Amino acid sequence: MIQTLILSMLLAATPVKAAQLREDNIPEIVSLMTDEEKVKLLVGGKAKSYNGIGNSALGVPGCAGTINSIERLGIPRVTLADGPAGLRISPTREGDERTFYCTGFPVAVMLASTWNTELIEEVGQAMGNEVLEYGADVLLAPGVNIHRNPLCGRNFEYYSEDPLLSGKMAAAMINGIESNGVGTSLKHFALNNQELNRLANDARVSERAMREIYLKNFEIAVKESQPWTVMTSYNYVNGVPAAENRWLIMDVLRGEWGFEGAVMTDWGGGYDNPGIIRAGNDMIQPGSDWRYEAVLKAVKDGSLSREALDECVTRVLELIVKTPAFKGYKPSEAPDLKAHAALCEKAADEGIILLKNKKNVLPLNPEKKVALFGTGSYDFIAGGTGSGDVNKAYVVNLLDGLSDRGFNLDSTVTSFYTRYMADEALRREEINKDRKWYVDVERALEVVPDELIESSSESSDIAFLTIGRIFGEGKDRSISGSYLLSPQEKDLLDKLSAAFHSKGKKVVVILNVGGLIELLSWQDKADAILLGWQPGQEGGRSVAAALCGAVNPSGHLPMTVSRCYDDEPSAGNFPQFVTDKAFNYSFFRRFKDHKRNDVKDVDYTEYEEGIYVGYRYFCTKARKAILYPFGFGGSYTSFAYSKMKVEPTESGWTVTVEVRNKGKVPGKDVVQLYVKAPRGKLDKPSRELKGFAKTPLLAPGEKCSVSIDVSSESLASYDENASAWLLEEGRYSFIAAQDALHSDCRRRVRIRNN
Ligand code: BGC
Repeated sequence: MIQTLILSMLLAATPVKAAQLREDNIPEIVSLMTDEEKVKLLVGGKAKSYNGIGNSALGVPGCAGTINSIERLGIPRVTLADGPAGLRISPTREGDERTFYCTGFPVAVMLASTWNTELIEEVGQAMGNEVLEYGADVLLAPGVNIHRNPLCGRNFEYYSEDPLLSGKMAAAMINGIESNGVGTSLKHFALNNQELNRLANDARVSERAMREIYLKNFEIAVKESQPWTVMTSYNYVNGVPAAENRWLIMDVLRGEWGFEGAVMTDWGGGYDNPGIIRAGNDMIQPGSDWRYEAVLKAVKDGSLSREALDECVTRVLELIVKTPAFKGYKPSEAPDLKAHAALCEKAADEGIILLKNKKNVLPLNPEKKVALFGTGSYDFIAGGTGSGDVNKAYVVNLLDGLSDRGFNLDSTVTSFYTRYMADEALRREEINKDRKWYVDVERALEVVPDELIESSSESSDIAFLTIGRIFGEGKDRSISGSYLLSPQEKDLLDKLSAAFHSKGKKVVVILNVGGLIELLSWQDKADAILLGWQPGQEGGRSVAAALCGAVNPSGHLPMTVSRCYDDEPSAGNFPQFVTDKAFNYSFFRRFKDHKRNDVKDVDYTEYEEGIYVGYRYFCTKARKAILYPFGFGGSYTSFAYSKMKVEPTESGWTVTVEVRNKGKVPGKDVVQLYVKAPRGKLDKPSRELKGFAKTPLLAPGEKCSVSIDVSSESLASYDENASAWLLEEGRYSFIAAQDALHSDCRRRVRIRNN
């Protein structure tokens, strides 16, 4: 009796350890959690700046945010870090001598320009490895929003104007990253196509345009890669904030597409906190006391049901059990940065686009003497600004890239720039030192003495000029400040062109940009134009390899290059501000009076062009406005297509085409498959991309056969009257082409509805 008493006293005194989270006991853990713990899990770790990089001092230093730990139940803290050009964390840590640099890969628009999904998957594998080995859990990438307008400040973080190309690239990237056992966050869901007033701008868009363009990219990525998470966007979609949009999150994303993962807000997105959870958005990121209190209060007063809360908690726990943090992975803190640098170069090699090459001025024998102009040649831009920036250890500029390839550089020009750039560095440092992350980086001014231009046109064989643009999150680009050449750039190009051309010598322009700039007014002054994008940390090497022909350019445009901004289908419905004050609008109309509907393109944006985005518009309604078509990419060789076959399969067709390299040097081609629908009930673009394939490197004369699968489902259009996809009967043309304007081979396919 006494013994039993002692035993029960002992048991009462020993704290019983609560069940610990396991993959197979999530319902039990949910049942053990208090309301406070559940809300703590859904409302993320607090934002607190660490060295100004990222938002969080918690988790991996410099990461964007965290999911809170609940130690009592064995729930670890999970680290969420940006994306999408690589892992974004702090390169240094207090009290630690080591550095934590990550690889700055080519920006997304350049990766899309490769049209090579295998290569993108490989890049994803390397990025994901850095996520794993630096101790993070989820990379907040890729960004898949459509390039609706060339001035969107974040286009470099996104892939294309076409939903198929965007969706396929995103799926490849996600599959690559997640092969490491770390997560991704497909963002920004949805219609985040402008930065100005991004927290309160209402995207007003037809359901057809959403389904076929702005959601299609997400749909493809979700179905082909099941990302661990999706991030909702800041903006409103047809009157409802995306973060609180139950139709988007529950009906479309989870219901129709079968998304199985967790959803989170963009950083500070959404207004009605319980409304976010009620919409099925599982995580509010980052956390703050007021957001936590608002959700908890709603749970306590019953305005947020415990059922809705538990559904979100369950999905977050399902995410957590997959993470390296939960599995107790010990990161090495030492990913193979050398191997990743080589991969960065390989990816950039395939994304460079040869836009113009009059009289085959390129490739250039490196023995020719080159006068290297443009401040950008000496300070190459690897990527854009904002959360998509990566803290890389170095950037190879064009000067070094050319020197490594043995180019014979005119030393009068390089020594002028070396001195000048040192002076400019001091001036820029002063301006950039207190720069807010959303303000453009001050770049060196383009000033060159006329005598140097004149003398180098005597002493050199050719001039190279780099034109650079850097911009990013929080601000759209302005026409005069970014889209057009600056007066100094124009002046320099004019003078170079006059001096070199008068002596029968050539001028090559290298575009080191994150988005398109206007070309029509000046392209005649250049004999060749190489679109080198923002090629990541090894950039100068890849551009040099393309210039000398060590690598034959095989990038193709993921968007149309129009003749001028006003020709863009969305030009009349996109904000344009000419001063740098524009960035203020990014935070404009926040919480006080956060939603108004009175200023066009600020409070709301009409997507008046509907489905006619990019080449769908230009090829159907304004062919003359095209300067370079979507899908275009020059090469030092050329390709011929033949033997096109379209064979039926269970779900659609397999298209095969034979591609032959008919030139004198090896090269890779991108076969694009467009489909033209017959006239029917619904208005349709004159053609739409339905598949693509990149060939292997083909030697001169070599052939290969490429196959592209097309599903019949993908030929349907969205019929708003019936609220359903409609595949109309009739004869469809399947077009194999090297860009959106031309046709190399064509076959007819009859579709009958039974
Ligand atoms: C951006 C997201 C990013 C997040 C975390 C936001 O401002 O829109 O793309 O993932 O910050 O840094």
